[in-house]
Amino acid sequence: MGNLIQKNVILMVDLRSDTLTKPTAAMREAIFTAEVGDDVFGEDPNVNRLQEMMVEITGKEAALFVASGTMANQICIKTHTQPGNEIIVEHNSHLFNYESGAPALLSHIQVMPIQGIRGSFTREQVEQVIRPLNVHHPKTALVCIENTHNRSGGSIFPFDDIKRISELSKEKNLKLHIDGARLWNASVATGIPIKKYCDLAHSVSMCFSKGLGAPVGSIVLGTRQFIDQARYYRKAFGGGMRQAGILAAAAIYAVENHVDRLAEDHRRAKILGKFIRNLPGIEFDPESLQTNIVIFNVKNSGMSGQQVVELLARKGVKMLTFAGTKMRAVTHLDISDDDIQKAISVLGEVFNSKQ
Ligand SMILES: Cc1ncc(COP(=O)(O)O)c(C=O)c1O
Repeated sequence: MGNLIQKNVILMVDLRSDTLTKPTAAMREAIFTAEVGDDVFGEDPNVNRLQEMMVEITGKEAALFVASGTMANQICIKTHTQPGNEIIVEHNSHLFNYESGAPALLSHIQVMPIQGIRGSFTREQVEQVIRPLNVHHPKTALVCIENTHNRSGGSIFPFDDIKRISELSKEKNLKLHIDGARLWNASVATGIPIKKYCDLAHSVSMCFSKGLGAPVGSIVLGTRQFIDQARYYRKAFGGGMRQAGILAAAAIYAVENHVDRLAEDHRRAKILGKFIRNLPGIEFDPESLQTNIVIFNVKNSGMSGQQVVELLARKGVKMLTFAGTKMRAVTHLDISDDDIQKAISVLGEVFNSKQ
């Protein structure tokens, strides 16, 4: 509960990210009792079980447990490309903005960003930027989509657009990767099974440490041959973990217990968004709010994003700001209905006192 004050310490309602969740007591129990082995030898029973579960859920041939969403994406890029290639991404994507320049650093490739709407783009937009085979150009090797799209407010990439881009990638002999850090959220919100999304892509990365609330870990999915090569790069990137079963046990618990409840996060984000939309000085695109991320702009409030962050934090609510006046609030496993009510009342105090 965010609004309890104990011994002068304000308990924060922390809406900065869905990566902030702490393992629940039951998840800690699963970690505590996990059997382990050496996963670099392929002998950790929980890692193997998690990988098998994810093959079952996604319909892909094989799976590889890795340390983070960034590592999952970067291993996929490395496996799909040759140095000097070009990959097509959306200009607000995580891959392009928040992975430390890793496509250039690790895979020696260049990135062609295209301008999407709420993080989504069309087959026609991809067609326009595929390079002709010519000695002057880099070879276009890969298209990456992000579903849901973090920086656009957890927006869902329309299934039919993914399908059309997937068809194009086959026609043009390109690979298609889905950064599905929050594909769980897209599936719960649309009712489209994860398998149907995964059928359309050569590789998929998915996270356990966001909406699902596990402390660490992501998965790479693809053909057996792709995963064999990905395993090699995981080791080369320093991601070969040993008794990783304590992490895999938490991820298994999360997959078994925390997927359906994502609908709760989506419902709470909608309540928050509905309130934010009517605050003075706020710009908000209601269509962007499709899952658990609320993005809004405070540029007409007379305050900078940083000022809003500080005012909210003084009253016990944490949010993030980026790009000057853009703000982000994310609902997750550790946010209750009472926490949302507290966030609403604090937002009301901060913005209405500015009028
Ligand atoms: C869409 C998306 N992809 C990838 C990542 C990277 O995940 P990690 O922080 O585990 O490296 C994030 C992190 O928030 C994300 O939002």
